[in-house]
Amino acid sequence: MMDTRILTIDEQSLKLSEKIIKSGGCVAFPTETVYGLGANAFDDGAVGRIFEIKGRPNDNPLIVHVHEDFDLSALVSFIPWYAKQLAKAFLPGPLTMVYKSKNRVSPAVSCGLDTLAVRIPSHRGAQAFLRFVNLPIAAPSANISKHVSPVTAQHVYDDLKGKIELILDGGKCTGGIESTVLDCTSDVPCVLRSGLVTREMIAATVGECNQYVMKEGERVLSPGMKYKHYSPKCKTALFGYDNREQAYKYYLDCINRGERAYFMCESAVASMYNIENLLDLGGTELEIASNLYDKLREGEIKADIIIAVAPQKQDGVMYGVMNRMRKAFG
Ligand code: TXA
Ligand code: MG
Repeated sequence: MMDTRILTIDEQSLKLSEKIIKSGGCVAFPTETVYGLGANAFDDGAVGRIFEIKGRPNDNPLIVHVHEDFDLSALVSFIPWYAKQLAKAFLPGPLTMVYKSKNRVSPAVSCGLDTLAVRIPSHRGAQAFLRFVNLPIAAPSANISKHVSPVTAQHVYDDLKGKIELILDGGKCTGGIESTVLDCTSDVPCVLRSGLVTREMIAATVGECNQYVMKEGERVLSPGMKYKHYSPKCKTALFGYDNREQAYKYYLDCINRGERAYFMCESAVASMYNIENLLDLGGTELEIASNLYDKLREGEIKADIIIAVAPQKQDGVMYGVMNRMRKAFG
């Protein structure tokens, strides 16, 4: 067990992070989506350590993070025209693009796939860290595998204390759900994981965009999608928006049985009922995305059971939110 320090981002903590990264260690750092657990993407041992620390299955590949001025052509062999357009429109930001790899980084990053996922985060602290080390940083979300992704330094600490030396603290992540993962190895881009940069936004920018939907028995394109994810440590129940009345009755039943039940929903639904134990996701789409993991983590500490109502809207950003809610609520 080592001492885990939480430090705000300044010259001193950046120097420490550089020292850790260059000696093969892992550093947790903030991004605009969720906190990442970073290691030198060129270093086999360091990348292996990420999988070890998280308890991550070794067939679930990692995203490489680089600063704004990093020369991508050093890592990937082909960048299609639409990826260049999308980079202009959305980067730096919560969009990860998957390219044909030049196999320059450790093979453990992509778990043996011939592709590489690359992300340029917009968070100022992330940029400062990536510029300071000036290396491609392989990083998954900084949680124990299958747990809810962390959106504060405290969340990272709760999962990884004793296992890493340093958490760079950049405050609460504003985005709140992981980046959109977009396959850029075909003629038409394809969303592998939904996020704040939506399929609709991508299609509006480059004309066309597919959405990957896993079918029974099919080879998994984005291996992370086959795993249970985002699960809080308490019981959960998810109701559709149209079944909110039923959800509320169920919540009252649980309370009457003496269970610590918490009700999770958007603000408009919260205002319809008298809810003492409320996990309010907020009003707008961006608020709901931003609050989801924070409220799941708050809920798992306080509740025996979280009862959630799906947001009314189902497209755009809510498509990605629903995807996470379904996984979190089993
Ligand atoms: O917002 C985010 O993307 C955060 C922050 C830290 O940047 N990172 C993150 O990483 O969510 P992680 O490891 O939790 O999720 C990475 C996702 C997985 O679903 C993985 O399967 C997919 O990206 N992925 C990575 N490399 C891939 C590749 N070469 N081809 C297809 N999917 C890939
Ligand atoms: Mg993750």
